[in-house]
Amino acid sequence: MNAFLGLAEQAMARLDRLAEHSELPDGLTRRFLSPEHRAVADLVAGWMRDAGMTAAMDAAGNVVGRTEGAVPGGPALIIGSHLDTVRDAGKYDGMLGVISGIACVQALRDKGERPPFAIEVVGFGDEEGVRFQSTLLGSRALAGDFDPAMLRATDRDGVDLRQAFLDFGLDPDAIPAIARAPEDVLAYVELHIEQGPVLEDEGLGVGTVTAIASMARFTVYAEGVAGHAGTVPMRLRHDALAAAAECALMVERRAKAAPGLVGTVGRFKVSPGATNVIPGAVEFNIDLRAPTDADRHALVDAVLADVAAIAERRGVALDCHKTIDEPACQCAPWIMDQIDAAIAATGGRPFRLASGAGHDAAAMARITDVGMIFVRCRDGISHNPLEQITVQDAAAGIATLSSFIRHFEPRP
Ligand code: GLV
Ligand code: MN
Ligand code: MN
Repeated sequence: MNAFLGLAEQAMARLDRLAEHSELPDGLTRRFLSPEHRAVADLVAGWMRDAGMTAAMDAAGNVVGRTEGAVPGGPALIIGSHLDTVRDAGKYDGMLGVISGIACVQALRDKGERPPFAIEVVGFGDEEGVRFQSTLLGSRALAGDFDPAMLRATDRDGVDLRQAFLDFGLDPDAIPAIARAPEDVLAYVELHIEQGPVLEDEGLGVGTVTAIASMARFTVYAEGVAGHAGTVPMRLRHDALAAAAECALMVERRAKAAPGLVGTVGRFKVSPGATNVIPGAVEFNIDLRAPTDADRHALVDAVLADVAAIAERRGVALDCHKTIDEPACQCAPWIMDQIDAAIAATGGRPFRLASGAGHDAAAMARITDVGMIFVRCRDGISHNPLEQITVQDAAAGIATLSSFIRHFEPRP
């Protein structure tokens, strides 16, 4: 594993460099199709070329690097993760997987090895969906599941996704053509920080992911009546924020009702947003996750029924738009076995765990078998600037992915 420390140090330095590209001066926020996205895409493409790959951006804003196998144009093992971030993010969520993939290709090249199959490394442009509520857009597009209706989504400045693509120099009408045929993909593997505390608790640097939880997200438009904070009696109000707040507490209560469920309201946009005005409108989001599709459906049904009841009781319209409904994703047993073997081959103890977070792997599962390698993160903290990993764990992750690639046997 020590052989990978140098590569891990390089990877950590590259992750620091990527983190310099933020729209916030004091924290990391990198939204889709922004100047910061362009800057990191250029850096990543350069590092892909340095590792001997061809590299280009596709129509969906993904950076795609490729090295050929024995047969040029043959099916590829795809390794990927994302380059966008949440607001005030850590610097490893997503980027670690892309940089580690490049490091593994570089390691092969340094050893003069050339696997018989093609390898692609993909830096997906939009996984978090922060700007357009378009979660997993990059990987869904590669998997042939891009919904053109999404192009009408707008960001907080009123710019629609179609215009944002055009402003970025990309042709949104070309997105469907980037879809990969299943026969052109051998498997998809993603290395990612765990974003939870399990590996740390086990005293392990890396682990094999078994499944990715299912998720549903909604944007909710609450429409009440704005009014004077001093003159309208409480019983005559239709306060959109009070209705939205009641929804947030209801989501918390519903998600607490059964083990494995989680529910979050992470964003409120209040209008007009003044101390002495009763809020007339609120836009907010609901994020619901569950280990199985049946649990997700039940949670969604319960939450939507409660939202309708809150709207009725308060005389506030609550209009729910589903922005994502992602089924649970099982990692392929044959890939999990090969990841376990790679962990053992690099001196680790194979250990399996499930992912509560969403990942590009879930979208790629539409066209191919998928697997994931988790790397321990400090205190299980993620989606937070305090997100941290050690260089030793980065080395263990890169060593594992590297061993996996070198011994990769396509699906029997
Ligand atoms: C992706 O980070 C997610 O929200 O799970
Ligand atoms: Mn994330
Ligand atoms: Mn991520």
